[in-house]
Amino acid sequence: MLTDINTDNLTPKKKVKILNEVKEICSQCKACGLHKTRTNVVFSDGNPSAKLMIIGEAPGKNEDERGLPFVGRSGQLLERLLANEGITRANDVYICNTVKCRPPENRVPTNEEKELCKGYLDAQISLIKPEIILLCGATAVQSMLDVKKGITSIRGEFFDGPFGAKMMPIFHPAYLLRYQSDKEGSPMRLMKDDIKKVKEFLSR
Ligand code: URA
Repeated sequence: MLTDINTDNLTPKKKVKILNEVKEICSQCKACGLHKTRTNVVFSDGNPSAKLMIIGEAPGKNEDERGLPFVGRSGQLLERLLANEGITRANDVYICNTVKCRPPENRVPTNEEKELCKGYLDAQISLIKPEIILLCGATAVQSMLDVKKGITSIRGEFFDGPFGAKMMPIFHPAYLLRYQSDKEGSPMRLMKDDIKKVKEFLSR
């Protein structure tokens, strides 16, 4: 059982070994119907020793083809916004999604799909033990936070998360792609403010 893994006091090498074992189990997963239409399971990318973890919604077309999260247009935007604050994807971030297989036509994953996939996400969190987790968009927020408010009113706020981590909801970059404006109060400007806050948190 994934939940039986003892994740305390692991060396970085042992942590990577267990993560790879979980990834291998996940790559064979047929727990929900999404396995029927996937090209690749999209487990994670980035640095397993990162203090910052980012959880998105689900792989899209590009991610399904390449087997890596956030490699399409929205992922590139997110990567640029992080890089503007000196946060690099390869070194400073561990990135994954609430579900590891692409929902057909990029529909929102169902509660059942999220629930059946949650063991992988929980294993990732307990192995990475990040200091801060960014919840990218409403789907990730619903998976991790018992809060009824919409993302617009809770983005940029710190919440208590697992293993002493803080969690912060942020806009999904796909949403930002629809609103090009960078004016004061625009979603893009708010996202930049939130990522600045994350940088301050990491540098504290
Ligand atoms: N959107 C997500 O939420 N995750 C990805 O990996 C790509 C796009």
